[in-house]
Amino acid sequence: MEIILAKQAGFCFGVKRATHLAFEAAERGGETYTLGPIIHSPQVVQRLEEMGVKALPNVDDIESGTIIIRSHGVAAHELDDAMTRNLEIVDATCPFVKKAQDHVAGLSKAGYDVVVVGDLDHPEVQGIVSYATGRVFVVSCEEEAQKLPRMSKIGVVAQTTQSFETLKEVVDVCLEKGSEIRIYNTICDATAVRQEEAKALAGKVDCMLVIGGFNSANTKRLAEVCAELLPRTHHIETASQVDPAWFDGVKKVGVTAGASTPKWLIDEVLERITEVERDKKR
Ligand code: F3S
Repeated sequence: MEIILAKQAGFCFGVKRATHLAFEAAERGGETYTLGPIIHSPQVVQRLEEMGVKALPNVDDIESGTIIIRSHGVAAHELDDAMTRNLEIVDATCPFVKKAQDHVAGLSKAGYDVVVVGDLDHPEVQGIVSYATGRVFVVSCEEEAQKLPRMSKIGVVAQTTQSFETLKEVVDVCLEKGSEIRIYNTICDATAVRQEEAKALAGKVDCMLVIGGFNSANTKRLAEVCAELLPRTHHIETASQVDPAWFDGVKKVGVTAGASTPKWLIDEVLERITEVERDKKR
C-alpha cells in the first residue's frame, strides 16, 4: 500500500510560530497562561498543560505571570487589560491577522466606516473588529452586504480565512454603497492552498485520512472537501483512532492534516498505517 502525505499537511506559518512561542514560554517556567486554547489541537493544549501552561477564558482570571496571545489574536481591550495588570505578554498573534487589525485601526482613524468580510462568531473577527474606533460592520456574504447603509467612505478588510470570491462579491456591493472605497486584501491563502492540494490527492487515492482536532473548523472543512470526492475519507485526531478495516482493498492512501495539527501527530499516524499493513501481511 502506498502512503502519500500532502505537502501542506499540518501547521501553517502562523500556528507554527504561535506554538513555538508557547513552548518557549512554557520552558522558561513560572505562571503561564493562554486565553482560551492556544490552537485547536487538544493534544497540543494537553502537552502545554503538562508543562504548566493553563488555558483560561478571561484575562480577568489572571493576576500575574505570563500570558500568551493565540494566533488568531484577541480583542484590543483584552490586550489593554493584560498590560494594565502588568502581565508579561507573549504576542503570538499571526502577523497576517495583526495586519488586518492594524488596517481596521488605520481606516477608522482616517474616517472610514469599516466593513469586515467574515464570520461574526469567529474570535479572529471579534478581535479585528475591536480595533475600530468608528463604525464597523461584519458581513459574511453578498446578501448581508446588501443590507449595509449608504456610507461616504468605506474601508474593506477580510478575515484571513475568507474566500476571495466572497471578498470580491462584498466589494462589488460596497462600490454601490459608497463614493470612496479602500480595500485591503487580508486573505491568507494557506487554507485554500491546503484544500486544493487535499482535493487533488483525494482524487487519486482509494482512502483518505484527515488528521486534526474535532474542534478545528479548518480540519473539518478539509475532511468535508475530501469526502465530497472520496467517501472513504476519515477524520481522526490521533493514531489510536485508525481502524485497520479502512484499508481493505486499498492500494493508495492519502494523508493530510489541518493547520493546527503538529508534526508528531502526523508521524504517529503514518507509523500506525505502516504497522497495520505489516500486521495484514503476517
Ligand atoms: Fe496566519 Fe494564515 Fe495560519 S493567517 S494563522 S498563516 S492560516
